[in-house]
Amino acid sequence: MNSNYKAFWLEGGDLVVIDQTQLPFRLVTKTLKNSADATLAIQDMTVRGAGGIGNVAAFGVYLAARESDGDLSKVKELAAVIRRARPTAVNLMWAVDRLLLVLEKAALTNQDLVTVALKEAIAIADEDVIGTRQIGKFGCELIEAIAKTKPQGEPVNILTHCNAGWLAIVDRGSALAPIYEASDRGINIHVWVDETRPRNQGANLTAWELGQSQIPHTLITDNAGGLLMQYGKVDLCIVGTDRVTRKGDVANKIGTYLKALAAFDNQVPFYVALPSSTFDMQIADGIQEIAIESRSADEVLYMQGLQNDQSIGRVRIAPLNTPALNYGFDITPARLVTGLITERGICEASELAIATMFMDLLPL
Ligand code: MRU
Repeated sequence: MNSNYKAFWLEGGDLVVIDQTQLPFRLVTKTLKNSADATLAIQDMTVRGAGGIGNVAAFGVYLAARESDGDLSKVKELAAVIRRARPTAVNLMWAVDRLLLVLEKAALTNQDLVTVALKEAIAIADEDVIGTRQIGKFGCELIEAIAKTKPQGEPVNILTHCNAGWLAIVDRGSALAPIYEASDRGINIHVWVDETRPRNQGANLTAWELGQSQIPHTLITDNAGGLLMQYGKVDLCIVGTDRVTRKGDVANKIGTYLKALAAFDNQVPFYVALPSSTFDMQIADGIQEIAIESRSADEVLYMQGLQNDQSIGRVRIAPLNTPALNYGFDITPARLVTGLITERGICEASELAIATMFMDLLPL
């Protein structure tokens, strides 16, 4: 098992995860002992981010195997529950299906399902470690090219939305991987961090991650990016994604589409970073075919934060009888995406380019 996972690790056969609902105020962990714990951790967003959800789902199937005493049909039942935990990030379904396929084969030769499941979950996480390093390297080339055009002492300004760092996928994240790589190479960078209402993953998680690595950043409201682009203060946008169709439509945290529109209008390059496990080659049209998560209205009606007594609590920000709507994700059409930064290289967001670079992922 790779020591670079950071957001989760194994302890005595259980999966320990950082509880992301407590950050940035408290760095605490939760121990997931069975598949129901894994499902709940995904649902209540103890763990989150497409890649992270996939990893915990894979280890969840391992926990399911441990609970099932070698009974494959029982593992499948429990895995089906994990698979439904959240609807949008395809890494969840991808990871569960990959584990079940391997377990089905293993069952034919009477192999120990627990050992096989654990090995496969670790393999997925290890692949992510290598993948996010590669994403970092390819994305960093874009940042380096922009840095060469900047006057001496001026940073490359990168805008990001939500959290697509190491909390969201081991071990460098997707959107933040090029930023970490650029920081390692000593490139002068500065990150605009969208707060990302309603759950504030930018304010709570991205700002925390970047602070841990001493990377210069500024928190902005979700609506500030457009003005910053008009002022020429954004050189590049990089976001993560939860699902990309074979035509290059991108599902990501709500508000991503509006950033892409503003970037398009201001000729700011807009890149999406992802491991290939985030492609959904079964579907073409993001708006018609990607299930967008609908979350509790309370997330919009209340803001969560640190209270004076140091407890984490929430305050209401709307009148008592105001209804609220809370879609978790939106779709950025391929035409607004400058390119996809993947572990195999940078790919145009078009059906032909995706099919050429990822031919092996196409359905038979
Ligand atoms: O609702 P979340 O916090 O799970 O949403 C996360 C995002 O939208 C990320 O940008 C996306 O999952 C990419 S992270 C590898």
